[in-house]
Amino acid sequence: MSERSLVLVKPDGVRRGLVGDVIARIERKGLKLAALELRTLEREVAETHYEEHREKPFFGSLVEFITGGPLVAMVVEGPRAIEAFRALAGATDPVAAAPGTIRGDHALEIQENVVHGSDSPASAEREIKLFFPDLF
Ligand code: PPS
Repeated sequence: MSERSLVLVKPDGVRRGLVGDVIARIERKGLKLAALELRTLEREVAETHYEEHREKPFFGSLVEFITGGPLVAMVVEGPRAIEAFRALAGATDPVAAAPGTIRGDHALEIQENVVHGSDSPASAEREIKLFFPDLF
């Protein structure tokens, strides 16, 4: 059965020219792109996207960062797409992320960690509706 996940190449990844590398890894794995857009997030969209972290001390900084330049949002599709992309991304903390993963190969900072991927079917549905309302 096919599943969908929202994937972001965050502003650090776009600035550093890593969009092609991320998409290549997604496609090499066999996941399909169902939607893709380059955009700079409005503050309100960013706050909604990260609303589960609203009370965390890093929330303000995270919203500043994610709205600070263009990002690439995409919907990837395939069997167990959520788990499959999270395995490609590696651990949230890039220092702990295994070499060979996107974060393990490209990042050192927990905030500027190149990519975001939905962490559950409920998050994926909420996030895809926020970024790509026309897909539903
Ligand atoms: S946690 O521990 O549940 O809050 O962390 P997690 O769900 O893995 O991470 C959520 C997103 O918040 C970012 N993050 C941080 N940013 C700045 N400082 C700190 N300390 C920090 N911890 C987590 C992290 O990059 C995650 O972003 P996304 O876009 O969801 O991957």
